[in-house]
Amino acid sequence: MPRVAYVNGRYESLADAAVNVEDRGYQFADGIYEVCLLVDGRFWDEDGHFDRMERSLSELSMSMPMSRPALKAVIAALLRKNRLKNALVYVQVTRGVAARNHAFPPDGTVPSIVITAKPYNLAANEALASRGVGVLTMSDQRWARVDIKTVSLLPNCLAKQAAREAGAFEAWLVRDGKVTEGASSNAWIVNGKGELITHPLGHEILGGITRQTAIRCAEEMQMKVVERAFTVAEAQRAHEAFITAATLLVMPVVSIDGRPVGSGKPGPVAQRLREAYLRRCSEIAGERPRAIA
Ligand code: PDD
Repeated sequence: MPRVAYVNGRYESLADAAVNVEDRGYQFADGIYEVCLLVDGRFWDEDGHFDRMERSLSELSMSMPMSRPALKAVIAALLRKNRLKNALVYVQVTRGVAARNHAFPPDGTVPSIVITAKPYNLAANEALASRGVGVLTMSDQRWARVDIKTVSLLPNCLAKQAAREAGAFEAWLVRDGKVTEGASSNAWIVNGKGELITHPLGHEILGGITRQTAIRCAEEMQMKVVERAFTVAEAQRAHEAFITAATLLVMPVVSIDGRPVGSGKPGPVAQRLREAYLRRCSEIAGERPRAIA
């Protein structure tokens, strides 16, 4: 399988693709990223991901490095070169290459853009969802603007690794006694009244695009969504729990800190929501031209 990356205007073999050592993304994590899913050559949640990318950039006083149609054309070309139809696409934009100084480099410094694509196995994701995953709670050590999707992810990596070492799939991050989100996903619970509870938008969580679409799906099915913070104790008493992310879709959580959630099996609400999310994304994607034929 050829692996090709897009780096600053060129398609290069992934093994050789590289950025300058003075790239501000490398030295300062001064950049943003997006991860989006394409199924059968079509974007899922396309507008949401592009909108969030623009917002993250603007929060760092940067603008889109190329127009949306140009970006989509590059992604389509990258998928063709990698012979992929089901893929996770990673797009990273940094403030570019400049002598190492903390303050922004001079106007006219060209942003760096890197795009990679890797195969996405929907069947493996389905199999995982049928079993559900465990999460481990831990202190949220991140900065105060995690709503910006920056490449500064060290606390997220440390949390995920700690979870994995403890045999859990994901870390749930806790600030002031409340679960904010996962290391790379949004966190949800379902209470005894059947309400779906997830942390409100704001500076404490990343506004997940899957979260946004899942809220729409839930409301379309007359499920009540309550955007408020919840405690770990509340989560442990919940009937169900799940996480959302472009990489995971809607993924049932069956244990928290080693204790079963509800029946200890994927719950009906999470399963229905997952099906609705899959249906909605494939329908909307089907109305748009394929990025790759
Ligand atoms: N991360 N919260 C955090 C901290 C995340 O890193 C992510 C996704 C999400 C869910 O966002 P979305 O539904 O838009 O994927 C929430 C991506 C998948 C990643 O870093 O790989």
